[in-house]
Amino acid sequence: MLLERIDHVGYAVADLEEAVRHHERLYGGRVVHREAIDSDGVAEALVAVGGSYIQLLAPTRPDSPVARFLDRHGPGVHHVGYGVADVAGALERLRAAGVRPLDERPRPGSRGRMVAFVHPRDALGVLVELVEDRPGPPR
Ligand code: CO
Repeated sequence: MLLERIDHVGYAVADLEEAVRHHERLYGGRVVHREAIDSDGVAEALVAVGGSYIQLLAPTRPDSPVARFLDRHGPGVHHVGYGVADVAGALERLRAAGVRPLDERPRPGSRGRMVAFVHPRDALGVLVELVEDRPGPPR
């Protein structure tokens, strides 16, 4: 199986701190990582769930993809991140199967991991993120 595990489920939220408090209060969740990814226009907080995460994503500017998602759909599940051994190899295999990935090649994502996204049209309506299961090159 190309997808080795569920790395995280990404939630689009309007207010990051409120979403963090929600997970703390209801589930006793704990934020284990915070990061702003300027190229994507998002701030994120990762809440650990076993070996996986809930990735809370809030827009940092009005034209970010997460801002557009919130405008269209409101808050909710935004994407699922799957751990793979080799993102570049996974992209190659998907392309050979007729998939047109949103990212032509792997790029740095959260936690310094290399990632690539697959459009929902090629993934049963779900935005899929491939996350390499080893640290990427230093930024
Ligand atoms: Co993600």
